[in-house]
Amino acid sequence: MLELQVTNSPFNQEQVELLNRLLPTLTDAQRIWLSGYIAAAAVTGSAVLGTPPIAAAVNAPAASPASTAPAAPKEVTVLYGSQTGNCGSLAKKVTKRLQDQGFEVKVSSMSDFKPNGLKKVENLLILVSTHGEGDPPDNAISFYEFLHSKRAPQLEGMPFSVLALGDTSYEFFCQTGKDFDKRLEELGGKRLVPRVDCDVDFDEPAAEWINSVASALAELTGAGAAAQAVPVTADTLLESTESEYSRTNPFQAEVLENINLNGRGSDRETRHLEISLEGSNLEYEPGDSLGIYPENHPRLVDELIEAMGWSGEESVPVNKNGDETTLREALLHHYEITVLTKPLLEKTAALISNGALNELLASGHDELRAYIEERDLLDLVQDYSLKGIPVREFVAILRKIPARLYSIASSLKASPDEVHVTVRTVRYENRGRERYGVCSVQLAERSESGSALPVYIQHNPNFKLPQNPDTPIIMIGPGTGVAPFRAFLSEREETGAEGKSWLFYGDQHFATDFLYQIEWQRWLKDGVLSRMDVAFSRDSDQKVYVQHRMLEKSRELYQWLQEGAVVYVCGDEKRMAHDVHSTLMTILQQEGGLSPEEAAEYMIRMQQEKRYQRDVY
Ligand SMILES: Cc1cc2nc3c(=O)[nH]c(=O)nc-3n(C[C@H](O)[C@H](O)[C@H](O)COP(=O)(O)OP(=O)(O)OC[C@H]3O[C@@H](n4cnc5c(N)ncnc54)[C@H](O)[C@@H]3O)c2cc1C
Ligand SMILES: NC(=O)c1ccc[n+]([C@@H]2O[C@H](COP(=O)([O-])OP(=O)(O)OC[C@H]3O[C@@H](n4cnc5c(N)ncnc54)[C@H](OP(=O)(O)O)[C@@H]3O)[C@@H](O)[C@H]2O)c1
Ligand SMILES: Cc1cc2nc3c(=O)[nH]c(=O)nc-3n(C[C@H](O)[C@H](O)[C@H](O)COP(=O)(O)O)c2cc1C
Repeated sequence: MLELQVTNSPFNQEQVELLNRLLPTLTDAQRIWLSGYIAAAAVTGSAVLGTPPIAAAVNAPAASPASTAPAAPKEVTVLYGSQTGNCGSLAKKVTKRLQDQGFEVKVSSMSDFKPNGLKKVENLLILVSTHGEGDPPDNAISFYEFLHSKRAPQLEGMPFSVLALGDTSYEFFCQTGKDFDKRLEELGGKRLVPRVDCDVDFDEPAAEWINSVASALAELTGAGAAAQAVPVTADTLLESTESEYSRTNPFQAEVLENINLNGRGSDRETRHLEISLEGSNLEYEPGDSLGIYPENHPRLVDELIEAMGWSGEESVPVNKNGDETTLREALLHHYEITVLTKPLLEKTAALISNGALNELLASGHDELRAYIEERDLLDLVQDYSLKGIPVREFVAILRKIPARLYSIASSLKASPDEVHVTVRTVRYENRGRERYGVCSVQLAERSESGSALPVYIQHNPNFKLPQNPDTPIIMIGPGTGVAPFRAFLSEREETGAEGKSWLFYGDQHFATDFLYQIEWQRWLKDGVLSRMDVAFSRDSDQKVYVQHRMLEKSRELYQWLQEGAVVYVCGDEKRMAHDVHSTLMTILQQEGGLSPEEAAEYMIRMQQEKRYQRDVY
């Protein structure tokens, strides 16, 4: 080993002498441990051997880290709750990072975790998103309820940390993560590092959380060689192994086909897009979603630029790497301009002195919410005369435009190198101005065949066909909710799966809104689809919805459940999914003689056994 000198190192004479005496006496394991210890201490700011950070007191080690090195692998439990897959992929990343550091990591979704094992957990990391209106994702519900119940054990001194994913445009931002964090503290847990709440652009804060958790665990347990593990960065966070393309590096995919599925006279417009994945190596399974990065409507961008008195040619940054482009280009492709959030209003208020805006921010919660929910950036600029804010300062407070997810409507086996989606166009009027759904209107109006779309695959392990091809499946998907079931049946047709299948479909009118009618009928004829019940809500005086058809067939439906059928629900989260859930509970009580509590338990068991899967939005 190179002998240290004042001239070849950053140390002074006294330090050089001390180190030259110590280093040759160390074993390899001790050297590795020490480098990890010093790297971790550099991050956490604690640099004295034998004085571990506060969190280390939790495990009450009898000896200092130095005297316990090299330590046996320490155990970390990583639990995630995820609806659309983000927390699931982040859980894999933190697991890999900790394993590289020598930790023994047990990772599982919350629904796969046996709560009676909680007492034995040594170190707990929770990664959880929020869905619905402040609700846990489906695969977090039972663990969430257990932890908040009287049955939850005391977790005196258990080190934990929470990464919460969410979206600041929702009223209950990161609520589930906040709830877990609070509850774990109430039960006696000790935070390893503070909870991090992430907005839609979560890569950077999530990478920081992973790195600080890894460092804190290394320091706490004395087990990790932090320096050996490559720190996670926002860029590496979601690298895909099969393809170089991912959410952070989307593939420019060519649109092959783009047709309107609704007939003339329909109130609705639903586009069926066929998109080429050729050359991307991107792969998906039925149940996954396609992420599409949209561009803002050029007219809205121009109106915003004009309202602010800019030209659009100003140079502005588009990321933290110093890349710049023109303001018009940045507003078209990089920044979100259609959604207001409370943090955005607060940052705007900090840029200008505007009494009325300050008043709005200080107004009651409901008033502020109502303002935010019904307006976009152009409304804000016009309502509060924001003209005059320097362009670069203005751009700096905007969020990155997030991708939109679409349930994949095809099977790679049936359509190699292609992905199909079913997109309902969002158009409505508000405050005298026509409003356009950013992505759906781009797909409807400005994505003819031959154009390119930046896409990636969002894998969703929570919405998958059963492994056993003989298992019966019940698919409930009104409107665009039917999209993944086209993928399911295409796949089952290709693989020759023998299991029975039953589709409940609904939309407004039979004549104009029966999406993919010919395909369902062909599958019915060929036996790929065993049964189909449809509910056209506006063809009769009384509204008829899918759940009414389910109730009409409750005996057979219960029979299918008894035979082990998997139930899939896709589409509207706010109303349909709730009503379908209640209807399933009713059927269990009516046909199975269960009490309401027993029916609720039955549904939770179905969820845990992956026999009740939802892809709702
Ligand atoms: C896992 C997942 C799968 C999905 N699959 C599909 C799918 O298969 N097909 C599909 O079409 N969509 C699907 N979506 C929804 C999709 O991602 C987009 O949210 C949708 O296309 C709207 O995006 P947009 O950019 O067009 O609209 P945005 O610009 O995002 O605007 C939508 C927003 O407009 C507002 N809004 C809409 N209508 C009104 C109204 N009448 N009055 C007032 N405000 C209104 C609401 O705030 C709404 O959230 C899915 C979502 C998820 C999370
Ligand atoms: N979160 C997001 O980003 C986002 C974006 C876009 C859309 N969405 C949601 O996605 C949903 C899907 O939209 P879509 O246009 O495909 O179809 P949809 O609006 O769900 O309509 C499909 C059918 O479902 C019926 N329906 C209405 N309420 C119902 C209920 N409580 N139970 C069962 N069926 C019901 C409709 O009937 P009637 O119309 O006659 O009532 C229609 O016949 C939308 O409702 C919207 O809420 C969410
Ligand atoms: C239908 C729907 C409802 C949502 N509701 C909330 C919410 O109430 N609060 C919040 O902070 N985020 C909400 N989000 C945002 C998600 O938490 C966010 O997209 C997160 O990255 C998803 O992570 P996951 O893929 O691990 O589920 C919602 C997202 C969707 C699609």
